[in-house]
Amino acid sequence: MSVQKTAIVTGASRGIGHAVAQRFRTLGWRVITVSRQPLPDQCPWAAESNTHIQLDLSDLNEIVKTVDTLRPLIAGSQLHALINNAGTSPKGPNGERMNSLTTDLDEWQAMYNTNFYAPLVLTRGFAQELSNAKGAVVNLCSIAGHRVHPFAGAAYATSKAALSALTREMAADMAPMGVRVNAVSPGEIKTAILSPGTSAIVDNVIPMHRLGQVEEVADLIEFLCSEKSSYITGAEMAIDGGQSV
Ligand SMILES: NC(=O)c1ccc[n+]([C@@H]2O[C@H](COP(=O)([O-])OP(=O)(O)OC[C@H]3O[C@@H](n4cnc5c(N)ncnc54)[C@H](OP(=O)(O)O)[C@@H]3O)[C@@H](O)[C@H]2O)c1
Repeated sequence: MSVQKTAIVTGASRGIGHAVAQRFRTLGWRVITVSRQPLPDQCPWAAESNTHIQLDLSDLNEIVKTVDTLRPLIAGSQLHALINNAGTSPKGPNGERMNSLTTDLDEWQAMYNTNFYAPLVLTRGFAQELSNAKGAVVNLCSIAGHRVHPFAGAAYATSKAALSALTREMAADMAPMGVRVNAVSPGEIKTAILSPGTSAIVDNVIPMHRLGQVEEVADLIEFLCSEKSSYITGAEMAIDGGQSV
């Protein structure tokens, strides 16, 4: 009988993370999730004990606590996939873009904690467990990390650019341990993170003229955590309907 694989997915209470957690569950994996809120009741794993942890990854102390809390839950000290998905993209009080001149410093720090330091601390924290399983890490970056976006703010964009660079660095550092580290950069995927003006982007900028679906992102992440991508590491894959062409 084959060993049940384990994945950690941050930010799985909704959106892309929820679809990814659902996907790994369907594949028979044990999935451990982290977010500030509880899982929706209809989640198949919501009722199971010790599979969902409520912590706030915008707080450095809670990020460190996340590693300590999750480590005993990883069966056999083997972690097959770590999906650093939790992320926020705050807007101003009237929904406006937060630029580099006006964003409060506390906001920059919270954004970097969630979008950059959490992936760093979690990946380092579970390096041995990932190595034991010859596992894979996937970081959720963004096309906003590469060019100015009309809605994603400056702190968000730069934190995602830093996460892209971190993906390269960690891919190099962890390859000798048998761990692959890749990034996925969504364009406009249909989740709560989107802004009201997104339909103009769909009409005018995205060659495929539609939003992406969370299941399409889950397909790519499943691939990057599978043997089918065994020679891919340090890559950042856009999933954006051609938006970045
Ligand atoms: N959707 C897109 O078009 C798009 C585009 C580019 C990049 N991305 C990236 O893809 C990832 C997922 O985005 P999404 O669209 O699925 O967003 P979403 O629907 O807003 O979900 C975000 C998830 O992250 C969790 N989260 C946020 N802040 C957290 C914190 N401080 N501590 C713990 N968990 C936190 C949320 O849970 P709680 O609220 O319960 O904490 C939620 O589960 C993000 O990294 C995002 O930047 C998305």
